[in-house]
Amino acid sequence: MARRHLILDCDPGVDDALAILLALASPELALEAVTCVAGNVDLDRTSANARRVLDLAGRGDVPVHAGCARPLMRRVGVDAAWVHGDDGLGGIALPPPAGPLADGHAVDIIIETARRLPAGTLTLCPIGPLTNIALAIVKAPDIVERLAGIVLMGGAAFNPGNVTPAAEFNIYVDPHAAHIVFEAGAPLVMHGLDVTHKAPATAARRQTLGALPAPIGPALIRMLGGYGTGDPFVHDACAVAWLLAPELFETVEARVEVECASPLNLGQTVARVKPRHLDGASVNAKVAIGIDDDGFFALLTERLARLAAGIAS
Ligand code: BDR
Ligand code: CA
Repeated sequence: MARRHLILDCDPGVDDALAILLALASPELALEAVTCVAGNVDLDRTSANARRVLDLAGRGDVPVHAGCARPLMRRVGVDAAWVHGDDGLGGIALPPPAGPLADGHAVDIIIETARRLPAGTLTLCPIGPLTNIALAIVKAPDIVERLAGIVLMGGAAFNPGNVTPAAEFNIYVDPHAAHIVFEAGAPLVMHGLDVTHKAPATAARRQTLGALPAPIGPALIRMLGGYGTGDPFVHDACAVAWLLAPELFETVEARVEVECASPLNLGQTVARVKPRHLDGASVNAKVAIGIDDDGFFALLTERLARLAAGIAS
């Protein structure tokens, strides 16, 4: 089986942690590196949390590179500690990272990896604000045509936002970076709130995940217990699931543009789908709009069970 080379660019984040674990649990994916960005919490915390999650899975060998500590143009960032807890992982008190950060800035690692691997084999999976990805594209535009694609979590095409009525968190934090990424010309799949809000981690689903063997199950119970409210959404894991089982998703072709000017609608992802709205403009993304949510949670549970079994053995 040819494995898909992957860089996860993230801001852990409880749902980022699930996405990392799902990637580690999946033999179809060769996780080249985890790159971190400021988002849910600050960069020091996101880059420590990524290593803590890898350590939990016994995969401290995967390099973690710190990237951008703030958005491109917005001076005052927003975070989502109110959703993920002050530590970004729902206060679950995982041990501090066993190893140091890997050498090299995330932006340079993204560029070097895209240039090193055979053209068309590296997928970027950004599940936080798009600052690192945009800077890599600005610094080295040649990487765009070397990518297999960009499969991201962010935006809300037909759904209201979650930070403002118009905007989803990852895009709102750095709309200028998102604009660069959507305009870059890489094959792009957008998993926004249109699809992630259709797959809530209900109490029954959390119970199933929590019953997985240690150390994964107990960590998930604690993490998801302190995450969000009600039936929380595990947004970022949806983007990784698409890499494994795209048949679980329904997508539409769209031209997605990011609002960067209006204070009212900052970070809105405006998706043109209808011919009348496209009016001859080219499409730049597949937008996920539907999900087999039971199939998604079955995949997540099966893979994380496999990961837990591998750690125990
Ligand atoms: C996105 O925002 C973050 O809080 C989550 O980790 C996810 O990437 C959802 O809007
Ligand atoms: Ca995230």
